[in-house]
Amino acid sequence: MRVLTEHSPHGFTITAANWVANHLKSKPQSTLALPTGQTPLSLYAELVARTKMRQMSLNSAYIFNLDEYCGLGKADPHSYSAFLHQHLIDPLNLHSKNVRLLQGDAPDLQAECQSYDAEIAHHDGIDLCILGLGTNGHIGFNEPQSAWNLRTHRVNLSEETRAVHARQSPQPWAIPTHGLTMGIQTVLEARNVLLLIAGANKRGARDALRGHADPKWPVTSLLSHPNLTIVELS
Ligand code: GLP
Repeated sequence: MRVLTEHSPHGFTITAANWVANHLKSKPQSTLALPTGQTPLSLYAELVARTKMRQMSLNSAYIFNLDEYCGLGKADPHSYSAFLHQHLIDPLNLHSKNVRLLQGDAPDLQAECQSYDAEIAHHDGIDLCILGLGTNGHIGFNEPQSAWNLRTHRVNLSEETRAVHARQSPQPWAIPTHGLTMGIQTVLEARNVLLLIAGANKRGARDALRGHADPKWPVTSLLSHPNLTIVELS
């Protein structure tokens, strides 16, 4: 595990962006798994800015997202698809043929998960999986005590996760009770994992990473990953 600790939000953003840019330089056709949430926002803005300055490009990459709320499609502004479109895909004008996002409003969610896994396999797995971190240690929507040998699947969202999401939303809305997520197996099979950690409310989960693999803290599944980089804001 490699840990890059930054002491300012700007340093955090630049270090994460440099890391992603270097990765894409070494393999422009990378398959990426991308997170939603507050933590990656400044990274996405920086990647967009560098692309506009022609310092890098995501045009040859293939993009998956990590998770989605059940019942929400791209047209819903609360959906993770809408988030990724707003902050990365649309500003970069990425071609739809290079993007596959989870469809939380698919009529058959099990079929959607199978089709997602088939698409990941078709692309020979994930080259770079970028992760945020839940306050309860979740990665994607893999909640505490979830199995670590699953690929894409439907999950019950924990009360803690739903409460955090409710607090983060400027307007109240009915937070879904279920989500779809890439499983920990898929994450562990990614050739590189970049874990972004920022915020005092992540301290418990961050501390768990100093211990051993523990299903109470899904993020600790990454301790066995051979190419894990953590960029953290102290
Ligand atoms: C959500 C998402 C995760 C995300 C995490 C952290 O629950 N399912 O994919 O990484 O929360 O979000 P934030 O970066 O806003 O703290």
